[in-house]
Parts: sequence; C-alpha cells; structure tokens
Amino acid sequence: MEENKLTMDKLVSHCKNTGIVYPGSDIYDGLANTWDYGPVGVELKNNIKKLWWKRFVQESENSFGVDAAIMMNPRVWEASGHVASFTDPKMDCKNCRARMRADNLIEQHSKGTVDVDAMTNDEMQAYIDEHHVNCPVCGNFNWTPIRQFHLMFETSRGLAGDEKDIIYLRPETAQGEFVNFLNVQRTTRAKVPFGIGQIGKAFRNEITPGNFTFRTIEFEQMEHQMFCKNEEQGFKYYAEYKEMAMQFLIDLGFNKEHLDFKDHEKLAFYAKAACDIIFKYPFGWNELNGIHYRTDYDLARHQEFSGKNMYYLDPVTNEKYIPHDVEYSIGADRLTLAMLCEAYSEETLEGGDTRVVMHFHPAVAPYKVAVLPLQKNLSEKAREVYKKLSKHFMCTFDEAGSIGKRYRRQDQIGTPYCVTIDFDTLENNTVTLRDRDTMEQIRLDINELETYVNSKLAF
Ligand code: GAP
Repeated sequence: MEENKLTMDKLVSHCKNTGIVYPGSDIYDGLANTWDYGPVGVELKNNIKKLWWKRFVQESENSFGVDAAIMMNPRVWEASGHVASFTDPKMDCKNCRARMRADNLIEQHSKGTVDVDAMTNDEMQAYIDEHHVNCPVCGNFNWTPIRQFHLMFETSRGLAGDEKDIIYLRPETAQGEFVNFLNVQRTTRAKVPFGIGQIGKAFRNEITPGNFTFRTIEFEQMEHQMFCKNEEQGFKYYAEYKEMAMQFLIDLGFNKEHLDFKDHEKLAFYAKAACDIIFKYPFGWNELNGIHYRTDYDLARHQEFSGKNMYYLDPVTNEKYIPHDVEYSIGADRLTLAMLCEAYSEETLEGGDTRVVMHFHPAVAPYKVAVLPLQKNLSEKAREVYKKLSKHFMCTFDEAGSIGKRYRRQDQIGTPYCVTIDFDTLENNTVTLRDRDTMEQIRLDINELETYVNSKLAF
C-alpha cells in the first residue's frame, strides 16, 4: 500500500464532499474563518468531546464538570486581564485593505526561523521594514503601522432608556471554571487538590492566515483546571498533566512521531511553567494544546475584583490558602482537525485501485457500522439489522451502487465495520463483517454483532 502526501486543500475538499465540514454560510459565499460540521463531522467532534470528558472528568479522581454561561459579568474579563491585554498586533495594507497579523507575516517570511513570540511591536515593525515584507495578497509594501487589535467580541445589553452595557462573548472557557471554584468546592465538599473541567464555545475576533479550522473566530475548548495547594503540588500536577495530555492523544490513535512538547519561551509574570503539545499539520508543526502552571494568580485576581474570599481552609491541617492552578486546555475543533490530518490516507490496492481511508480509532469514528444489503431485495432484512444495531451505536445504511463503491464511501468517512446482508443471511441469520483497515471479512451471526463491535470501542 502506498501513501500520498496530504495537503490542506485536499483535506478541505475531502471534508466538504463527505459531509464532515462545510464552509460556514456556504450559500451566501461564506463568512471568513467560520465552518459548519456536517452529519459526519458532528459525530466525529461529539465522539472526541465525549472521550475527552471521559478521560479528564469521569475517570479523573476528584474532578468535576461545569457548563458555565458564555456571557459573564464584564468584571470577569477585567480580572482575567483580557480587557487590558487580549490583543494581536495587526497591520492593514493601504493598497488592498487586507488586514494581517504582524507576527504571522514575520513567521511566514522567515519560514518559522524567527521567534516572533519574543518580539516587541517595535522589533516586529523593524523586521518588516528592514526585510521589506510585502502584502501576501496584493504584493505591495504599503502598510499602516502596527496597532494592537482587540480579540474579544463585544455585544451590548439594553438597560433602562438608551443606556447599554457592553458585555463580551467569552474568549476562553477557563474563567467559567475559576468563578465557580467556590460553588463547586462547597457543593461537592471537594478537598484540594481537585479539578474542574468544561467543554464549551469560545469566541475570538481572530485575523487568521486560513488553514481551515485551525484558527477560527468561534470554536470549542475543552479545559480543565487542577486546583492544588502550593508550588510543589503545582509542578507535580504540571508534569502529570503533560503526560496525561500526551497519553490521551496517543490513545486516540496519534503517532508519537507527529507530536512533541514545546516549552513557552516567554512566561507570563505570574506563571511558573507553560508548554504546548505541537502536532505536525500538513502546513507544519503548530500548537494543538496548552498546559500552564498559573500559580494562585487566577483565584487571587478574582478575589481582588469580586471582593469574595477565595481562601480554602484545609479541614485536616487548618491551613488557609488560595489554591494554585494547573490548566490544561485543548480546542475541540483543533483536535478534530489534527485527528482528520492524522487519520487521512490514500492507498493503492493490489490490482491498482485506489482508496481514501480515514483510519479513525473505532471509538472516534463517526459511524461504527454501515449496513449494506447486497441487493435491493435484501433491504428489508438489512433494515432490521440497522434498527437493531442503531440502538447501541451510530450506524449508517447504504443500498446505492455496487458493493465496492459502497465500501469506498465508508472508507472515506472512516467507518470501521461494514456489515453486508446477502442471501445466506435469510437462510442462517449470518452476515459478513468487513474490517476497514485490513479489508478482511468474517462471517458472524447477527446476534453477535453488537458484542463484537462494542469490544472494539473500548477507550
Ligand atoms: N485558557 C487558556 C487558553 O485559552 P489558548 O492557548 O489561547 O489558551 C487553548 O487556547 C487552546 O484552544 C489552543 O491550544 C487551541 O487548541 C484552542 N484554540 C485557541 N484559539 C483558537 C482558535 N481561534 N480557533 C480554534 N482553536 C483555538
């Protein structure tokens, strides 16, 4: 079997044609940096979210979930520092009006050899001037100076009369976990160390260089805060979460060679350690998730801005302290994209035929089983099988075209098992079950299917 190189264009087109991801507002020519998940993609992303929740909330001792509101009291974003400093350095091309991020321009121009994270705005401006970095859209060199561009989306809520309060769409889910620290601790009687996890939408007014769903203006985050006692525990959990985050990806089916840790070179003044896990996307190595030891900064800031006491009283030692936090954060859409890149393969079969296969772990695969009647007059029996299996997992039904074409369609969306109903099925209640990866077929009794497939879904 041969493998061909995946490009982002190929992946975007594959996703659009197979119902994984469509451009947002497609019939209106789209809206930049928005994407819609189709029938296959929504299953894929939901499975990824469910597996994350299982690993980091359900199976993590002393870990609790929340689902906080997207719109929060604006003081939250003052406390978190977002109002003051959640900005990107942007420049506008005076010729074609394209808006660009100065750091992205330098990264592209230097082919990643310059560490833009460590540069000030003046240094970026100097680099762009000295190297005469042209507008990638129109090719001219006619920039406005770099300005800081705010990333939080604002909306307003009408009050009495014409007065309006500005509120923000949250740019991260993490603050919903911090502001509920006291509530969760009190209602669960949790003892520090304990964790709070959440999955939810976040919004950022990003200027992005494209790359499909890698960086979008609306996305989902899966974030987990581990609250602990002090620096010693902070470093311990930081190391533990690095390992857990990496193991989660490997268990999802990622090749270790395509993942790496990257320490942050520039730490926030309050942070003691921070790193990303980076992944080898078709456009190069880039961030997949972040792990951050943030000390007691977040709870201390919320204590300062809300006036509420964030101290935890240890019931055994009677010590009182503001807990430290280790944050682990990953985008559900970013992880789905990485998963799509990792799973995609083009294979040439014996005899010269080709197939595109998404090699998803069965627990991640959008559909677990495709039920295929060999001929239309076997549809009734096949529907019975479909009805029986779809009580247990997502199944799909396909009776159109040759059986070979139908297998290919399922390979393209990563369905791990195809169940074919043939004339023997009517005689002896058995079906053939074809494995996506090996393409081998076995004969099974219909009543054995559920147990067989379930045994492959363990995660
Ligand atoms: N609470 C910490 C935080 O939000 P971040 O590095 O800004 O940290 C965490 O975001 C993760 O969220 C990233 O590693 C990435 O997976 C995802 N993410 C961030 N911005 C995104 C965007 N614009 N589009 C898609 N995913 C994004």
